[in-house]
Amino acid sequence: MVTLDFRSDTVTLPTPEMMEAVRTAELGDAARGDDPTASKLEAVAAELTGKEAALFTPSGTMANLSALLTHVGPGQEVIVEERAHIFNSEAGGISAVAGAIPRALKGETGILDPDDVKAAIRTAVSDHVAPTGLICLENTLNSAGGTILPLQRMSEIHDVAQEAGLPVHLDGARVFNAAAALSCPVADICRFADSVMFALSKGLGAPVGSILAGSRDFIARAHRKARMLGGGMRQVGLIAAPALVALQDPYPHLCRDHALARQLAEGLAAIDESLVRLETVQTNIVNCFVDRFAADARDIVAGLRAHGVLANCAATKIRFVTHRHIDGTSVESCLAAVERVLGATRRAA
Ligand SMILES: Cc1ncc(COP(=O)(O)O)c(C=O)c1O
Repeated sequence: MVTLDFRSDTVTLPTPEMMEAVRTAELGDAARGDDPTASKLEAVAAELTGKEAALFTPSGTMANLSALLTHVGPGQEVIVEERAHIFNSEAGGISAVAGAIPRALKGETGILDPDDVKAAIRTAVSDHVAPTGLICLENTLNSAGGTILPLQRMSEIHDVAQEAGLPVHLDGARVFNAAAALSCPVADICRFADSVMFALSKGLGAPVGSILAGSRDFIARAHRKARMLGGGMRQVGLIAAPALVALQDPYPHLCRDHALARQLAEGLAAIDESLVRLETVQTNIVNCFVDRFAADARDIVAGLRAHGVLANCAATKIRFVTHRHIDGTSVESCLAAVERVLGATRRAA
């Protein structure tokens, strides 16, 4: 049986073109600034994000953490949305390593309200408070189902930050998906942030790595932090080369991933309309709510696995993500498996 893997866009394997780029990459000791392929990737990434400089890191978590360490010191507050990846899913590094205090605000469908951000900013007027040092945004919003943080909202929050003299960091792990959905250059999104992280190994399809981009001075300081975290790499052109291929023309396949997610969501809604909130399916993620069918989504996910479909599971929610190895036939097979598993669950109830 063929296994269809909808767990994440991180599961893709390198294309033959990427493997060829690995074979022919020019290499050197990147920790000495001697790897021409890594330097090229950083230059391309800086240009795409509209920033002065960029740093190639092995993971998004390391890029986010390097940004936190560069923007804030121990005892400073960082404003985040309460479902943000940087707060919930990066092993607590924001506090454990950066020593910062996350101030988690509830945003509607993950989207922070600029007035709430303004009200939450604390300046060091009193010895009693931990002053705010940074505002973190995320685009697309992973936990909300790959929804887009609207540019108008980013701009308003950026204005609030500027008035308070605070930097904004963008966790843009899937910012290329946002750009594809909005039909705009990535730089148009990144201009509302002082620093941005984006993942090469998610929708873009490279095997390893993320980028941190910002001003030349910021990246020079972040370099030191990444080094401290163990991110000083050597002949890293081996993984920068496929990333350069991934950045060549990413939009057609990202748009295709989005159309497949839409096809999947509409198919799920046709099975039972309580399964999806169609308005939240804006990029390559489909959150599927199975509370009507099972107390525990894990039972449904186990059933799907028996039919050769892998999906991600959280409480009553199942997450399907489309990517380069998924096509229209995979989506149809997935829908057929969902129908069979939900039907069996209904009969057993
Ligand atoms: C929104 C977001 N930020 C950051 C990360 C962390 O990236 P990595 O897994 O490369 O550390 C992820 C990973 O899924 C993510 O979805």
